[in-house]
Amino acid sequence: MIEIKNLTKIYHTTHQDIVALNNVSLSINRGEIFGIIGLSGAGKSTLIRCINMLEKPSQGSIIVDGQVITALNKNQLHLARQKIGMIFQQFNLLSSRNIFDNIMFPLEIAGIPPNQARIRVNELLEMVGLLDKARVYPDQLSGGQKQRVGIARALANDPKLLLSDEATSALDPQTTRSILKLLKDINTQLNLTILLITHDMNVIKQVCDRVAVINDSHIEEVGDVLSMFTNPSTATSQSFIQAIVNKDDPIEYSHNLLNSHADRSSRLIRVSFIGSSAGEPVISSMIKKYDIDANILYGNIDRVKDVPFGNLTLELIGSIDAIAQSMDYLKNSGLEIEVLQ
Ligand SMILES: Nc1ncnc2c1ncn2[C@@H]1O[C@H](COP(=O)(O)OP(=O)(O)OP(=O)(O)O)[C@@H](O)[C@H]1O
Ligand SMILES: [Mg+2]
Repeated sequence: MIEIKNLTKIYHTTHQDIVALNNVSLSINRGEIFGIIGLSGAGKSTLIRCINMLEKPSQGSIIVDGQVITALNKNQLHLARQKIGMIFQQFNLLSSRNIFDNIMFPLEIAGIPPNQARIRVNELLEMVGLLDKARVYPDQLSGGQKQRVGIARALANDPKLLLSDEATSALDPQTTRSILKLLKDINTQLNLTILLITHDMNVIKQVCDRVAVINDSHIEEVGDVLSMFTNPSTATSQSFIQAIVNKDDPIEYSHNLLNSHADRSSRLIRVSFIGSSAGEPVISSMIKKYDIDANILYGNIDRVKDVPFGNLTLELIGSIDAIAQSMDYLKNSGLEIEVLQ
């Protein structure tokens, strides 16, 4: 759906040249919700704004739905943009127009006859759950309601692609969830491709199929969301994930543990699980099978798209042989094991 090839964007200011994107290449599939996560200043907004040519790339090409968007003339671009909706952190509604007329606006620009446009606006109001707010003005709405108007307006011309620049960053967690659910519903119902940028891993977790990490103007990592959560491979993705997935700090236990079981050995391990093994009683079968005690020190379980994953920190206590056998048993049961001490 989107093919970005060797995209570079340099802002020339009076004092210096700022490389906001450095040779970025990325492919986004039709119908997916693709997230781009990065810290402030990483180049996220620049990237998303290059896709509808609100920013002109310095180098490289962008193909959207088979059309080389970077090679269009003004009129062609005007038409192409009608098929690319965009929503913003600050909603960008017209304060002098009521909700109905805000959603009407892009239809007027596209030259849709008023009767037809009014029918479309009503459909959109219904889709975003705001039929009762048609005659109200933006400053009488909550943030979540404003973003629903933003979404309705972005969908007015039946786009194939929706770009979202931090659309939930100004909202509380509960409202964020409801807006993300709306985006997910629209994605499924309309088979709409959604590209969203965020600095919040929770947003990625709740709604995205795949994710790219952008850092310091370039793409560091691309993958499906579950793999990134269970196996983040760069320092940037690790820090984003650590911020929302709790892992324990084994240092906290180390003082109390070792040497406290006179005749038996003890080993501190972290067991990580993904998918079905999360629901199986592997630990209890291990205890039954081997002469071993397992002291559960910490546990955490989370879900990405209904796939459970998590980790458990265990102290295994027993003979050296029993500990080794137990660890083999856990590994053979499909769990990943890290020896902490
Ligand atoms: N119009 C501009 N002129 C000059 N420099 C700019 C312009 N827009 C962005 N930049 C610079 O380009 C870099 C990338 O900015 P960008 O807005 O793309 O970051 P971002 O990832 O969206 O950050 P944030 O999360 O804070 O929105 C930054 O160093 C920024 O200062
Ligand atoms: Mg930005």
